[in-house]
Amino acid sequence: MIEPGGYIRDIFNKPVGTPVEAYGWVKTRRDSKGVSFIQLNDGSAFQDLQVVVDAGTIPEEALSQATTGACLRVSGALVDSPGSGQAVELKATGIHVYGAADPATYPLQKKGHTMEFLREIAHLRTRSNTFGAVFRVRNALSFAVHKFFQERGFLYVTTPIITTSDAEGAGAMFGVSTLDLMNLPRTPQGGIDHAQDFFGKKASLTVSGQLEAEIFALAFSNVYTFGPTFRAENSNTPRHLAEFWMIEPEMAFCDLDGNRKLAEAFLKYIIAHVLDQCAADLEFFNKRIDNTVLETLEHVAGSDFGHVSYTEAIRILEQSGRDWEFPVRWGVDLQAEHERYLTEETFKKPVIVTDYPREIKAFYMRLNDDEKTVRAMDVLAPRIGEIIGGSQREERHDVLRDKIRAQGLPEEHYWWYLELRKYGTAPHAGFGLGLERMLMYLTGMKNIRDVIPFPRTPGYAEF
Ligand code: 4AD
Ligand code: MG
Repeated sequence: MIEPGGYIRDIFNKPVGTPVEAYGWVKTRRDSKGVSFIQLNDGSAFQDLQVVVDAGTIPEEALSQATTGACLRVSGALVDSPGSGQAVELKATGIHVYGAADPATYPLQKKGHTMEFLREIAHLRTRSNTFGAVFRVRNALSFAVHKFFQERGFLYVTTPIITTSDAEGAGAMFGVSTLDLMNLPRTPQGGIDHAQDFFGKKASLTVSGQLEAEIFALAFSNVYTFGPTFRAENSNTPRHLAEFWMIEPEMAFCDLDGNRKLAEAFLKYIIAHVLDQCAADLEFFNKRIDNTVLETLEHVAGSDFGHVSYTEAIRILEQSGRDWEFPVRWGVDLQAEHERYLTEETFKKPVIVTDYPREIKAFYMRLNDDEKTVRAMDVLAPRIGEIIGGSQREERHDVLRDKIRAQGLPEEHYWWYLELRKYGTAPHAGFGLGLERMLMYLTGMKNIRDVIPFPRTPGYAEF
């Protein structure tokens, strides 16, 4: 029997002399006279286990196959390591090769690969230093998300992936249909007859779980979702994916200030957790990817976020003297260049922008008394720009109905959303954190395609 759980990371903590069996993949191999050094990694830690093979101690057939990429079981004893870089190493007395990897064709060679090339071998990039670290941080981050909300009594709710309502009212949705594309049923007016489709009406992949989370918040008070979301916008940028993961808390009896406070506490908590759990991985990012990562994260954990209204932000941008690619005036949406200026130049830390013009924000955001702005908030982070979008929700039935109409949205699709305002409405608020944007912030990785296992972007859905 082979049981799971014999991790290399636990081997490092065993006393010298302990007999051990280690399982993993060869990261690199180096031969000098009389001895071979094999760096073995099983993904459990950044650090490789150094396996030392003295000439003649292992049958040549096995040793010759223990090359980069091969999968091995190594048995032996832990000894003090004379080399720098590790306290102990494994002196091999036996090597079993589960799977060899022909060095002539194995695509993941020692170094020098571009991120673009590694994306093409996403079935193997997971074994590299960079992607090992990325996915351990992603794991720790996901756990920290649940921990934060569970410690505060939030109910975890899964919201549907297939939906018939457009949560953002923006229309950038992927359709879900079983109709025969070659032979589409038509309505008398010539449109597509979705009555004959699988769900009996037009269905799509969800852009957000928020609207359903609101249903749950108006029964369980504090809830959160954590799931995949889909956007069919043709945005080919380093910070957009067509499929990404979003964390969406929703709180009854909460206003915009409460929302802002929770978002800040949440970000600080997950940063602290990852700093604590993934020290070696973060050190690697700091050394090899972006030498400001550690300093930035430690700084954020200990300082208050900035806060500025949209109107004030526009004034700052207008007075900056910058020559913007996207011109600035009250009413325009903030672009990445503006967001980065605010957070990197003006505040030099994360900043929360609130109270945006109603025209550029979703229909569900609460209208301010000026009737021009809504109780929106975006959290902007240095290097990334927007990592969180949220708002206090419009809880007044008639105001919400009028906003849905004013945006030209089909009122009948939102009948249940409106009824929540008719029966026991409550002030409530929430936000959405993009998991991959947060990972970019934590790791310093420059392209969002490199912090998700298998990216989906316009023209690309391999693996
Ligand atoms: O600002 P967004 O669109 O907000 C919502 O979806 C709300 N329903 C959230 C809520 O209030 N419950 O998206 C939220 C976050 C963004 O701030 C960003 O981090 C991320 O989701 N995001 C994306 N991440 C990767 N690729 C994309 N195409 C993204 N679009 C949004
Ligand atoms: Mg947004």
